[in-house]
Amino acid sequence: MSGPQAKKLFVKTYGCQMNVYDSERMAEALGAEGYVPTDVIEDADMVLLNTCHIREKASEKLYSDLGRLKPLKAEKPGLKIGVAGCVAQAEGAEILRRMPLVDLVVGPQAYHRLPEMLRLPGQSVDTDFPAEDKFDHLPARKGRRGPTAFLTVQEGCDKFCAFCVVPYTRGAEVSRPAARLLAEARDLVSRGVREITLLGQNVNAWHGESPAGGVWGLGHLVRELAAIPGLDRIRYTTSHPNDMAEDLISAHAEVPQLMPYLHLPVQSGSDRILKAMNRKHTAAHYLDLVARIRAARPDMLLTSDFIVGFPGETDADFEATMALIRAVHYGAAFSFKYSARPGTPAAEKPPVAAEIADSRLQALQALILDQQHAAQAAMVGREVQVLYEKPGRLPGQMVGKSQHLMAVFVQDPTGQVGDLVRARVSASAPNSLAADRIPD
Ligand code: SAH
Ligand code: SF4
Ligand code: F3S
Repeated sequence: MSGPQAKKLFVKTYGCQMNVYDSERMAEALGAEGYVPTDVIEDADMVLLNTCHIREKASEKLYSDLGRLKPLKAEKPGLKIGVAGCVAQAEGAEILRRMPLVDLVVGPQAYHRLPEMLRLPGQSVDTDFPAEDKFDHLPARKGRRGPTAFLTVQEGCDKFCAFCVVPYTRGAEVSRPAARLLAEARDLVSRGVREITLLGQNVNAWHGESPAGGVWGLGHLVRELAAIPGLDRIRYTTSHPNDMAEDLISAHAEVPQLMPYLHLPVQSGSDRILKAMNRKHTAAHYLDLVARIRAARPDMLLTSDFIVGFPGETDADFEATMALIRAVHYGAAFSFKYSARPGTPAAEKPPVAAEIADSRLQALQALILDQQHAAQAAMVGREVQVLYEKPGRLPGQMVGKSQHLMAVFVQDPTGQVGDLVRARVSASAPNSLAADRIPD
């Protein structure tokens, strides 16, 4: 309980949505040990940094943040400092050597052991990939929740793209059993959740044990989730083009709760670079897949990730990427300059000059931004459904997401967080829409 004696926990999350989910679960595990969350770092009895290793910048952020914690730790020697997530997994004890103020380092598969670690004297490290399932050892989730939630269904990656650390930091692909996921989803819905985003590093590679002992694919899981009364919206991320099964594509045509939005990273449009990246598909294969997905769900909004300046990328390779983007018409995309990561195969290869990579990134981002503006502008005059997530800044205004995950501002003085309403889009801005509520 949160009495005056309660210890306070400050959590900072970097990286992907799975880290957001993990941070929640870690806070709950520590909650069972008497920690209550705080947003004020100076009040904290424990600071937990949940880190990301994906690019050099993300990783270095940990060390600058730890440096800034030195005065606080000097003032408050009892302060516990923990490092979790993918840098913890990749660098382990090295973090303690570089930063003696850190008390514990815990990897993404071992964080259910956090409470035990806290009881150990001195510094401790746990970067095991334990045989037990961490989810079996985490406390049950409690309390009322907001209208949207994440649910990890799959973790890890067996793909080994030549640039990527995830297979090393998250380990091999593991799918959680369907019965557990259905139970967790029902529980979330009973606490007020109306939209669930299924998470996995390769979420569409999920192939979990079915309640009857067989194996389901993600399309089947989506259909079972859609049968839960009160679960109005289902999303999933991140998908790999090679794991987009027919049954999942047809679920987009058949399951109204499955939202018409898909993050489908392609990384490059050049077959030569895709091969060097070990993506195991061509640009034509990706474009064909996009066509099949759009045939199933014509209003599907697609987003992607791109890497520019991968070792060996020529102007022609980059142009092939731009051509692919022009062919697809994305709703948005994340794009990154290639960052060499220690231990990955591509890190051995000579890099593309930084100025060249910078100018490619700029050109690519300008094109994506044009497409994003066009996708937003195309919504004007159309009816959307909005799930209110919070009040807006203006009086009587509510903010939520449309089916296509666009932020929508609605003037609705009687609107409540958690309402799912119909609205007509009146104006578009680069990152949001304005809409008028359509009375029920
Ligand atoms: N599992 C997902 C995404 C994983 S990481 C997938 O397969 O697509 C998220 C994004 O970070 C990747 O899609 C990629 O675009 C980017 N990324 C990963 N490693 C990178 C690196 N070394 N340099 C730059 N960007 C990288
Ligand atoms: Fe990384 Fe590739 Fe696995 Fe995605 S599929 S997590 S980019 S190795
Ligand atoms: Fe980063 Fe790990 Fe997620 S490296 S992107 S936090 S899986």
